[in-house]
Amino acid sequence: MNANGEGIEHFGYVDGRSQPLFLVEDIHTEKTETDGISVWDPTAPLNQVLVPDHAAPDPEVHFGSYFVFRKLEQNVRRFKQSEETLADQLGLVGEDRERAGAMIVGRFEDGTPLTAQREEGAESPVPNNFDYGSDAAGAKCPFQAHIRKTNPRGSGGAEEPPRERLHLMARRGVPYGERADDPNADLPPSARPSGGVGLLFMAFNSVLGNQFEFTQAIWANNPGFPIPPDGAKPPGLDPVIGQGPRPESVYPTEWAGTRTVTADPIPQAVTLKGGDYFFMPSLAFLRGLGGKG
Ligand code: HEM
Repeated sequence: MNANGEGIEHFGYVDGRSQPLFLVEDIHTEKTETDGISVWDPTAPLNQVLVPDHAAPDPEVHFGSYFVFRKLEQNVRRFKQSEETLADQLGLVGEDRERAGAMIVGRFEDGTPLTAQREEGAESPVPNNFDYGSDAAGAKCPFQAHIRKTNPRGSGGAEEPPRERLHLMARRGVPYGERADDPNADLPPSARPSGGVGLLFMAFNSVLGNQFEFTQAIWANNPGFPIPPDGAKPPGLDPVIGQGPRPESVYPTEWAGTRTVTADPIPQAVTLKGGDYFFMPSLAFLRGLGGKG
């Protein structure tokens, strides 16, 4: 957790914030918190995560979900070093050096989205009512940033926004591993763990091929996505989870500025250790098992 009580993953960033929402109370809470106009609507239909459970007594009313489980090791030392290297290559100084990591993830460590102007201190709850409409050139949040790759919020350029939304899944990440260092302390990269810690990535889907697999293969691993404006260089791989050879990527040197620098690829700091797909059955199916015992 960070000082605001928000859950953070091992690289130090608030995680699990942006989710498709299904329940009226969750949607209501989110809308109340973002008073004013809704730029990003997190609402999704239940069939984005639920499918009929054919092993349950009544598949018409009993649903399950296709569940992805992946153990992703995080080399925190390497990631933190690459934030410093990127800040150096862009010539960022002082507080603005934090923007290097934010451009890798798409949010600052406290969860503030890069598209929003950063004000004093973190907002609580962490904002999620934003899109990339004010950032068509990638001058605030680079196209390759992890959250812009994995949810372009209607700006990917390859599909109409309603179709693009169908790739979203419900994520539930749990950090694993013990750390000797304090993740919230200001320490040099050399004090960070280089192995033994990571994220148990979990996600619920109704169509694995169109959600988790699509996000990883067609978005994160695809150097040409999101489709940049005419004449601009392809974004490159997702610097957090992209798999495969990593080309160079372009970053703005100032927030919303026009000068850019082509920086070295961010070295891979996330390694798949194992995982599988499962079918998460309905509660009715599980209750049935109990009855037979
Ligand atoms: C160790 C590996 C990973 C780390 C450290 C990581 C980190 C993060 C962080 C810090 C956020 C921002 C907080 C939020 O909006 O929830 C985020 C968002 C997200 N991540 Fe990851 N992530 C990892 C793996 C993955 C994988 C494997 C996928 C899917 C293939 C994925 C998909 C997403 C999506 C869809 C979002 C929300 C984007 C949005 O709606 O704006 N992440 N991740």
